[in-house]
Amino acid sequence: MNRPELRLVLAISLDGRLAPAEGGAAQIGGPGDRQALEEALAWADAVLVGAETLRLHGSTCLIHRPQLLEQRRVAALPPQPLAIVVSRSGAIPGDLPFFQQPLQRGLLLLARSGFSPPQSPLDRGWPIRPERPLGQRLPMPPTERSQVPPGFARQWACADWTDALSQLNEAGVGRLAVLGGASLVSSLLAENLFDELQLTLCPRLLGGPHSWLGPTARVELAGQSGWRLLEQRPLQGEELLLRYRRA
Ligand SMILES: NC(=O)c1ccc[n+]([C@@H]2O[C@H](COP(=O)([O-])OP(=O)(O)OC[C@H]3O[C@@H](n4cnc5c(N)ncnc54)[C@H](OP(=O)(O)O)[C@@H]3O)[C@@H](O)[C@H]2O)c1
Repeated sequence: MNRPELRLVLAISLDGRLAPAEGGAAQIGGPGDRQALEEALAWADAVLVGAETLRLHGSTCLIHRPQLLEQRRVAALPPQPLAIVVSRSGAIPGDLPFFQQPLQRGLLLLARSGFSPPQSPLDRGWPIRPERPLGQRLPMPPTERSQVPPGFARQWACADWTDALSQLNEAGVGRLAVLGGASLVSSLLAENLFDELQLTLCPRLLGGPHSWLGPTARVELAGQSGWRLLEQRPLQGEELLLRYRRA
């Protein structure tokens, strides 16, 4: 398959959590992580962000460092990577600050993937709600939606990750940074699609249920081992950048 290179980019606590026990919009990383994050954004043609992370945070991360902006200008890249929101429902509130951010936006509607909850015998990969009153129309499967919602420059309606990544590749996305959250990351790992894992280890112990791979995550056998250490770099604030690449 022709697909972009995928790099996971996350800030995690020493106990592997990406959000505090109470959940909500998490800010795990400090200035060191901010630096590593901006470097990853500068590398990327596009970023993928889970719809829930966007709904909670309201906006996505931008490159601010003048050096990195200059690096992209010289490489004839837009100042910010294309920000692609991944959703099944397509329910992205139009009043989020995200829609005022100076970047291009895309919406990736994915029908089937390793992303599972809620599980139902009726689930064919797009939301069939058991509580749906009789006679009410089913929501339209993502692959049949064609209109690009306001605020988005592009929309891709895809059957699965193979289809999605191939369509993104055709659209010119060669380098894709995946910014979380856990559901999005789990569905990509279930299909062993990451080429690189960039984790900023932050000096915090958070406990609680929000580990960066959700409790029901499954990792394909080939992805369970064989990661090669590419970089280890101490960052400001006692943080540590770790980059692992598929062997
Ligand atoms: N520490 C970090 O670096 C970091 C980074 C990012 C997020 N976070 C934290 O992570 C938490 C949010 O994570 P989360 O797991 O709840 O949510 P998430 O992964 O951000 O988003 C889940 C939603 O994204 C869509 N989605 C994800 N994977 C999909 C797939 N394979 N196919 C179709 N749609 C898919 C669905 O949207 P619809 O509901 O619209 O269908 C799903 O409900 C927050 O606490 C956030 O602060 C931390």
